[in-house]
Amino acid sequence: MYLKNCWYVAAWDHEILVDTLLQRTIIGESLVMYRTAAGQVVAMDNRCCHRHAPLHLGRREGDCVRCMYHGLKYDATGKCVDIPGQEMIPAKLMQRVYPTVQRKRWVWIWMGKPELADESLIQDMFSLTSPEWRWIPSYLHYNCNYLNICDNLLDFSHLSYVHEKTFGGSPNIAEAKPEVKRIERGVAVSRDVKNTVPAPYHQRLGQFSGKVNRWFSYDFVVPGILRLDGGVVSVDNAEGDHTGALRFHSCQAVTPETDQSTHYFYMQAHNFRLDDATITESIHQSQRAAFLEDKTILEAQQQMINQSPDVAMLPIAADLGLSQYRRILQALIEAEAVPPSPSMALVE
Ligand code: FES
Ligand SMILES: [Fe+2]
Repeated sequence: MYLKNCWYVAAWDHEILVDTLLQRTIIGESLVMYRTAAGQVVAMDNRCCHRHAPLHLGRREGDCVRCMYHGLKYDATGKCVDIPGQEMIPAKLMQRVYPTVQRKRWVWIWMGKPELADESLIQDMFSLTSPEWRWIPSYLHYNCNYLNICDNLLDFSHLSYVHEKTFGGSPNIAEAKPEVKRIERGVAVSRDVKNTVPAPYHQRLGQFSGKVNRWFSYDFVVPGILRLDGGVVSVDNAEGDHTGALRFHSCQAVTPETDQSTHYFYMQAHNFRLDDATITESIHQSQRAAFLEDKTILEAQQQMINQSPDVAMLPIAADLGLSQYRRILQALIEAEAVPPSPSMALVE
């Protein structure tokens, strides 16, 4: 079950072009996406309503797409505008078109009822367009359920183990107690890690002479949007002072593809040495190496779950953030599954 009345990240803006048709499955629904000449993103049901051939194998004709099986042509609103050899076009020959919004490098899609699409629910991912941050757009495909990725992102204790050689470097991260707070449609998590060793890439960038303090502070809101402020600073700095720290800002979006696969859009930005592209590339490579470690453990975990899906998982204290998030998400999913009461139906 997926939450439908929410904004999912469907793509990086540069993935959707005027002259191509991008196929992408989101919450189990196959879509074809393209951009009109005016720049508007179109996300349409990929299954041609005639005989169900996929439209992404069709061709662009202006702002329309023509199915290359029997030639039906649809405009950007999904309306069929041409049937070769037939003059009368029945009004019901129509493709579903989903609301989309392009904002700060991400294309967001509303998979639920179009009349409920509320743009104020789109998170402000400010570092995606701020000149104070530099980064490289990134994407990974995971063969696991999206909730397992949400769990992973809501418990950074795994940095000490999954990312021992990339992000972690010591058990200190797992030992530091996170603070978890409820926020609107999600949770806020912060974790201060005192007097620890820098991660290898921190050491490479910061040349620290000894121990460091690290911090992670992030929001995680439905349907899987993470916005993180983090950094590392020498312990020689005043307690609680981030002066001289290496600071990072990360935007990440977990979008279910199917119940066994997930799209993962992310970037890790830095706000120091902005004129040196090799720093940006080095951070990007370090992040990617670490996320491939997540991919390995999460896909292996999914296989274990699939072997015995009915076996219960046993909780520990570190699960606080992910348990809270799952409850919030589940409550929203259940709320939208409730049919309108008979009295409401009469009013409508
Ligand atoms: S299946 Fe698309 S035109 Fe027939
Ligand atoms: Fe991780």
